[in-house]
This record gives sequence, C-alpha cells and structure tokens, in this order.
Amino acid sequence: MKKITDFNFGGKRVLVRCDFNVPLSEKGEILDDFRIRKTIPTIKYLIKKGAKVILMSHLGRPEGRQEKYSLKPIAKRLEKLLKKKVKFLDDYIGEKVEKEIEKMKEKDVILLENLRFHKEEKENETEFAKDLSKLGQIYINDAFAVCHRGHASVVGIPKYLPSGIGLLLEKEIENFKKIIEKPPLPLVAIFGGREADFRVINKISKIAKAILIGFLIKKEIEREKIALKYPRKIIFPIDGVDKKGENFDIGPRTIDIFKKEISKAKTIFWSGPLGKIEEKKFQRGTKEIAKAIIESGALSVIGGGETVEFFNKIGLAKKFSHLSTGGSAMLAFLAGEKLPGIEALKMRY
Ligand code: 3PG
Ligand code: MG
Repeated sequence: MKKITDFNFGGKRVLVRCDFNVPLSEKGEILDDFRIRKTIPTIKYLIKKGAKVILMSHLGRPEGRQEKYSLKPIAKRLEKLLKKKVKFLDDYIGEKVEKEIEKMKEKDVILLENLRFHKEEKENETEFAKDLSKLGQIYINDAFAVCHRGHASVVGIPKYLPSGIGLLLEKEIENFKKIIEKPPLPLVAIFGGREADFRVINKISKIAKAILIGFLIKKEIEREKIALKYPRKIIFPIDGVDKKGENFDIGPRTIDIFKKEISKAKTIFWSGPLGKIEEKKFQRGTKEIAKAIIESGALSVIGGGETVEFFNKIGLAKKFSHLSTGGSAMLAFLAGEKLPGIEALKMRY
C-alpha cells in the first residue's frame, strides 16, 4: 500500500476521499467537527507539497439531492481550520466543474458536493467512478470511517488512478493493529451504546481479560448469550440509575467494579457510551469510567461517533491514546474483516 510520502504531488490534481459525515443541527450547524479536524494534517501536507487538492465526501444518507445534506457548511469549517479559501462546487460533473478544475493552481483547495446525491456512488457504478477519477491524477483515501463500504469513491476510483492512504487512515490502521496484534496485556474491553456487535465482542474476548457491558445493551446480550464465546469474561452492571424502573446508566457499585478491572488493564478498548448520555443525569457512569481509564495510564483506544463526540464536548478527548473516527468501520476492522476501502488500495490494477 502506498503512503502519502511515496508520491510527488507538485502541480498534480489530488482527489482526496474524506469522511466529513459529521453531526449537524436542524439549522445545519456542525455539532462536532472531530472528523474534519482529523483530516487537516493530510490536506495541509498536500498543500505544502504543491498539490491541487480536490476533497470529496458523503454526508448522511440522502435520497437524491437534499439541501440539508449539503457539504456547504463543511467548506466553511475547512476554511477556518486551514486558514485558506476552500472553493465549494455543487457537483462533480459538467462544464462549470471542468472550468473550475482547469483553473486550479498549486495549493488550491476545492470541496465537491455530497457524493451520495448521486445513487451511483453507493451502487459503485463504473462510469461514475471513472468520471470522478478523471478529475484527479492521484487518489488518496483518508476516510477510515467509510472504508467498510464498497462505494465508488472508496473502491471504484483506485482502479483508475495511482492511489495511496492518507495520514489519518494510516494512523487508524496502526492503532488498531496495536490492539489486534500484540496488545500489552491484560486487555479490558468496554461495550456500551445500544447495539451489541457479537462479532467484535467474540473476537476481542479471545484476548481480553474482561468485557464490561453498559446498561443500554445489557438486555440484548443476556438474551443472546448463546452468541458469546466466552460468557464468563462478561461483566454486567449490577446496579443502575433508573427512570421509572428502567436503567439508563450504570450505578455506583458497578462503577466500582468496572474501575477495579480498569486499574489492572494495560490496554483498554471502548466503544459506545455506558448510559443515555444525551441526558445529563445519565452521564456519570461514562464520565467516571473515562476518568478511571485516563488514570490507569493504559493504552486506550476509543471509538464510535457518539462516544467520541461526548469526550470532545467534555474536553477529555486528548487524554486517551487514540480516539477513532470510525464507527461501524472500526468494529468491522476489529472483528478481523477485510475493509474494501483498504483492500482497494493494496490492489495493482
Ligand atoms: C459513518 O458515520 O458510519 C460513516 O460515515 C459511514 O456512513 P454510513 O454508515 O452512512 O455508510
Ligand atoms: Mg455507520
């Protein structure tokens, strides 16, 4: 797989697949720009090397062209972060686009409109991928969070252009390899959120000493105990913070038990909040466990959109060893699946 340092970018048009799929408010304001910020080093590197940078991404799951999924607000945020003009183009094809691309000078940056406004993106349609690839001379994938999708901009374009991985994607792979291949032991894994991913729980429980489970997915796992390879490693919450009889956060005794496990760990993987963190009164468990992880000094890798957004908000994000931009992609990667987006970069066409 080629790295960004293996290319000569001077004067070349470089198509960069990013994942700018960030949470937006009803009014279209960016609620968390973590994924955008994480791509800045790659973009800055390309600018420094004199590339003509063409950025592309998806946002949400639009059906055709839907204004509320426009990437326009992302262009504004990029301008702020890069401290430079980012030209927004509302399509990827047509005379206007061709002219704008033609006009590009070294170090210029363009952002294309949401790729999913065209259904051909998801269908990985050949002509669509070819047309996109014609915009650039080199393709860089820096979108770890979408590497589990076989979409045109992820697996199609690299068929037609010299391709490589961006700095963020490289870092994500490196960090997850640390966990998969030779993690400092003992390893403790924590699963919260609302859905249990048995592939990942099973895979990681092979090497983990303990698997700590949050309240919102407890029932699902109890129900599906048969799906667990190492049920004895699972530690369920024993008390909770309830609202009309239903538990929405782990309680103080559970926090103590979890903390004890965490203090013994050398590696910690965590995905999904332990309570209903949208409500302040159910944030305590997640916060306390985060603090315990930071104090433990263990190698800590944390992912899942909601969890990461929360730690950014409460200012703890920088305290962990690695915060992943991936959600489902991260889980698939940890489960040992080959991610199509990464595989596509390894092929020689
Ligand atoms: C994500 O947020 O999981 C990625 O951006 C991929 O989005 P998708 O699940 O809509 O394909
Ligand atoms: Mg997803």
